[in-house]
Amino acid sequence: MYYTRITQIERLTDEVATLYFSICLRSYPGQFVMVYVPGCEEIPLSLSSSNSVTVKAVGETTASLVNAKEGQYVGVRGAFGSAFTPSKRALIVAGGIGIAPMKYLYEYLMKCGSKVSVVYGERTAKNLFWLDKFDRITVTTEDGSFGLKGTVLDALKLEKLDEYEKIYVCGSEGMLRATYDFLKERDALDKAEFSLERYMRCGIGVCGSCVIENGLRVCADGPVFNASELPW
Ligand SMILES: Cc1cc2nc3c(=O)[nH]c(=O)nc-3n(C[C@H](O)[C@H](O)[C@H](O)COP(=O)(O)OP(=O)(O)OC[C@H]3O[C@@H](n4cnc5c(N)ncnc54)[C@H](O)[C@@H]3O)c2cc1C
Ligand code: FES
Repeated sequence: MYYTRITQIERLTDEVATLYFSICLRSYPGQFVMVYVPGCEEIPLSLSSSNSVTVKAVGETTASLVNAKEGQYVGVRGAFGSAFTPSKRALIVAGGIGIAPMKYLYEYLMKCGSKVSVVYGERTAKNLFWLDKFDRITVTTEDGSFGLKGTVLDALKLEKLDEYEKIYVCGSEGMLRATYDFLKERDALDKAEFSLERYMRCGIGVCGSCVIENGLRVCADGPVFNASELPW
């Protein structure tokens, strides 16, 4: 582990902030880092660029990161895990804080000259951020306070899935499973990649904390999986 300084903090909503590190990590979109906050725990966070993480406060460690001060030091290990496979025509599907690794992926694909569409769903308008970062974006909110009323699945139903070479999905477990079922129904599972979350300790495939039902480890075999690797 090495210690890096937080050079900049961008507050995105009441609960979400992006923390920029003083170092760039050699990494690809979809990979994660283990971040240690002195006095708290070490937690996995996806990279939202090669030198940042975007965090939602859900418990003690994430809250201490969201409320961190510029100049503070955190411990970082990584980047670890599998990355998304690039494609020329891509559909990104993000639910909630699942948008965090997708910004890194979007920027990477745009640099490669890919055409990228984004579907981004949240419960309500006040949780949305980064809408100006994506050219082709469809937004959904469950309460209808912004964009299309409903979930990302309602927006997916409007997409011509045949047009896409790859479909990248990141969000809560419920959202991932519902998207998996929907893409299966539409015969589009073979081009989908899913980013999973599990409780992690070592982050490098040793401790077994993050094993899923079929024995694969989210930290070392994932977090990005092809649909065919998932036991759903
Ligand atoms: C590969 C990976 C990438 C991630 N990327 C991001 C990211 O970019 N931004 C972000 O905000 N969060 C991300 N997370 C989730 C983040 O690691 C957890 O929110 C964090 O560990 C919670 O720690 P805490 O001490 O704040 O809360 P805790 O008190 O530990 O937990 C608060 C709540 O969150 C649940 N929780 C904790 N850890 C996880 C987990 N790994 N998966 C699902 N639920 C969990 C707990 O059950 C509890 O309900 C990622 C997780 C993984 C595995
Ligand atoms: S966190 Fe230890 S094996 Fe994945």
